[in-house]
Amino acid sequence: MHTFDTVFSLRQYLTQQRAAGQTIGFVPTMGALHPGHLALVERARQECDLVVVSIFVNPTQFNNPEDLAKYPRTLEQDSAQLESVGTDVLFSPSVAEMYPHPATLRLDFGDLETVMEGASRPGHFNGVGLVVSKLFHMVQPDRAYFGQKDLQQVAVIRRLVRDLSFPIDLIRCDTIREADGLAMSSRNVRLSPDERTQAPALFEALTLAKTKLLAGERPQQAQVAVATYLAARPAFTLDYIEVVNADTLQPVDELQAPGQTALCLAAQLGPVRLIDNVVF
Ligand code: PAJ
Repeated sequence: MHTFDTVFSLRQYLTQQRAAGQTIGFVPTMGALHPGHLALVERARQECDLVVVSIFVNPTQFNNPEDLAKYPRTLEQDSAQLESVGTDVLFSPSVAEMYPHPATLRLDFGDLETVMEGASRPGHFNGVGLVVSKLFHMVQPDRAYFGQKDLQQVAVIRRLVRDLSFPIDLIRCDTIREADGLAMSSRNVRLSPDERTQAPALFEALTLAKTKLLAGERPQQAQVAVATYLAARPAFTLDYIEVVNADTLQPVDELQAPGQTALCLAAQLGPVRLIDNVVF
């Protein structure tokens, strides 16, 4: 595995590889890697000649300074894990390398960012869009891999690719879960043992709501069921539970075509804000 921390050295290497006809698959991450990230890398490994992974904890997408400061940084272990799944290139730039000048450019994703995570985390998707645009220009991949775990992020990046004409195929990969259903996340390590045992209730609530919707209940009834389920577990504070179209992310009041209905929720559990979704 080649590791680069400057844009210049990364570009130099990838230009040669591209000229030799290699297709490039790209997995952007913020590190603290777990099997959810590695599943993206493995999918890229199957579909592309060269697999590039970036690790960069992007300050412009954090609207909570404490969350940024506490974000786990485990580059050495990450590097070993990436090597073990056949990564070709690891790009791990510093903040100064990625942002030599304070970024002032603003990206507006319209109705995609007035809902759910966008509403709860002002400026978050501007930061995601900015850093992913920069990384796309640096890596120039043929395909880029993102997890369904962050469904709204996938929709935002899809719009970015379309509106800025990036010649990149976007691949959405399934959410990888722990055996008890909790969606894997780098933030899960901050849960106390007690919070960790309660955390699967999020996926249980989503599964319950999905069953109700498929049985013909209205979205509002499914939302109430989730709220009630979590209210019985006082460690949780529900932020939102939405029934939306999986592509537009706009609320819907009936089931969509197969694969187009999404149930998305966010809740605070102790010090951690958890998000999860199911698409069906
Ligand atoms: P990060 O949270 O590190 O996630 C990197 C990628 O891994 C994202 O596409 C995310 O959706 C995916 N992922 C995380 N947990 C997953 C799980 N349990 N199952 C499947 N995929 C999972 O998302 C970001 O970083 C950043 O916003 C980034 C895109 C890198 C821009 O800074």
